[in-house]
Amino acid sequence: MNPDDRLAPPPTVENPTQADDGAYLYWLYCLPCHGDKGQGLTDEWRAQYPEEEQYCWNSGCHGSNPPEPYGFLIPTVVPALVGEDGLTRFDTLGEVYYYARGAMPLEMPGRLTDDEYLAVMAFLAQKRDIWDGTPLTERSVLQVRLRPEEAPPAELSTPTPEPTAVSPTRSALPDSSTGWLVGSGLLLSAVAIIGGWGLWHRSRR
Ligand code: HEC
Repeated sequence: MNPDDRLAPPPTVENPTQADDGAYLYWLYCLPCHGDKGQGLTDEWRAQYPEEEQYCWNSGCHGSNPPEPYGFLIPTVVPALVGEDGLTRFDTLGEVYYYARGAMPLEMPGRLTDDEYLAVMAFLAQKRDIWDGTPLTERSVLQVRLRPEEAPPAELSTPTPEPTAVSPTRSALPDSSTGWLVGSGLLLSAVAIIGGWGLWHRSRR
């Protein structure tokens, strides 16, 4: 395999990590549009395509009127996923995960399994230098911040407030006079219930 061939699949490794799995899936599903470095569909990246595939937007190819069933319109602008300009509208990798799961790859969103999307996220995190090597889960991916060096956005930094127990104050308790009213109210209802039961009981005989 030619290491200079930027369209080549990533080398297979023994005991692949989640990011290694992601690298392969990225190559398979994302690389044509998002580039080998996550740079997006730059002119420089498109120039790596085989000559006959560089003009992807010609009609009948990936331009308007793509051939059925596999043809699709390639957008002329594909955002970067790695680097300064990559993923600027997201704060956490979790947001990227949910976005990608619902919208990517462009021509067939939801094509990958959840685990595969997570693997691609691990790969992107590794590329962005924010992966600590722990396999990402649906839960942990939410905690991974894309720009950990920046101050966290408000909703992530505010600790969940402890529920404050409301201790009943003395005045909230019935004082002696209301206590008496409540007591006699209860007594009256008890009398009414017993009386009612008595009447019902008698009428059945
Ligand atoms: C056919 C080309 C194409 C393929 C294949 C593709 N994407 Fe995209 N991707 C796009 C385009 C175009 C956008 C911009 C969509 C928009 O803004 O509405 C985009 C946007 C994104 C974004 C949001 C970036 C941002 O900053 O807004 C993410 C994340 C993403 N893609 C991930 C992926 C992943 C992961 C894969 C592979 C599983 C993939 N894409 C495959 C074309 C593609």
